[in-house]
Amino acid sequence: MTDREPAVQTEPLVRMLFTAEQIAARVREMGLELAGDYAGERPIYVGVLKGACVFQCDLARATPLDVELDFVSVASYQGTLSSGSATLIQDLRHSVSGRHVVLCEGVVDSGLTVDFILNVLRSHKPASVKVATLLDKVPCRKLTVPVDYAGWKIGSEFVVGYGLDASERYRNLPYVGILEEA
Ligand code: IMP
Ligand code: MG
Repeated sequence: MTDREPAVQTEPLVRMLFTAEQIAARVREMGLELAGDYAGERPIYVGVLKGACVFQCDLARATPLDVELDFVSVASYQGTLSSGSATLIQDLRHSVSGRHVVLCEGVVDSGLTVDFILNVLRSHKPASVKVATLLDKVPCRKLTVPVDYAGWKIGSEFVVGYGLDASERYRNLPYVGILEEA
């Protein structure tokens, strides 16, 4: 054990976009906003595995309410290219019928994944569904989807870190960066 700060892990091909400190501050704000909107309720935060898991759990911890967690898993991307279609790999463990659901995503790109999962969630007849994402790649949208809570709107760059991967790499970076061509 040491009382020295651990060195910030940096990757040569990743250009810093949002630092861990900036993310923590923004997620805290989002958690408080959600706590206000869901005051008196017990919302279920549904995370899209695997990319949303870090954001989902930090957002839940930033929400001073009784929050439940559940997960869905969807395959929509191979490497950095969109395959243009989504497949449900893992459905919810518990019914969200009659419950308030917050769908948590790491990044909304074309909107195909969120649109697909919203249809899955609505088939469970929740009381309400809203979408929270850390990053919203607005210029990449192919389908209009509701994004109720967004950490930041960004451009079309491919981003990694804080749960987001490129072929399964970089998920554990504590910051978000733009992946530059090798
Ligand atoms: P969409 O269906 O095009 O909106 O893409 C959503 C999914 O693609 C997300 O859940 C991510 O897994 C992945 N994705 C889209 N853009 C990025 C990115 O810039 N970095 C990492 N993953 C991304
Ligand atoms: Mg991915």
